Amino acid sequence: MYSEKVMDHFQHPRNVGEIENASGVGTVGNAKCGDIMRMYLDIDDNGVIQDCKFKTFGCGAAVATSSMATELVKGKTIQQALEVTNKAVMEALDGLPPVKVHCSLLAEEAIHAALWDYAEKHHIKIEGLSKPKNDISEGEEEDEY
Ligand code: FES
Repeated sequence: MYSEKVMDHFQHPRNVGEIENASGVGTVGNAKCGDIMRMYLDIDDNGVIQDCKFKTFGCGAAVATSSMATELVKGKTIQQALEVTNKAVMEALDGLPPVKVHCSLLAEEAIHAALWDYAEKHHIKIEGLSKPKNDISEGEEEDEY
């Protein structure tokens, strides 16, 4: 039911962890299942994503899609990172079963939430970025989970 790539990223997720003093941090919750994901971005002065890490309290598909998403945004500009949609992540993973498609949204929204945080901290507006509706970043403790 899962592709080899999904199984690989689920069993050996890339870029799990935190980035200290990250340029942007975003946390999103999946309204359908209650799973949570936090994404950390390290963005340099040229707007290039140098590093990306994630932590999740979520299902296997959420782990696999986040892992792949972090790989896809690393080294990209902010504008290129916005093109890393859940569809792009699913394609890179050779697909997900239909009932698991919603899980891939966590990764996309977590990237957007982290970029939103970056934009707010730097008082800039990122073209084409809106605050994800499942952004639950505000008012939370850093070491909540
Ligand atoms: Fe919750 Fe997959 S079932 S993210």
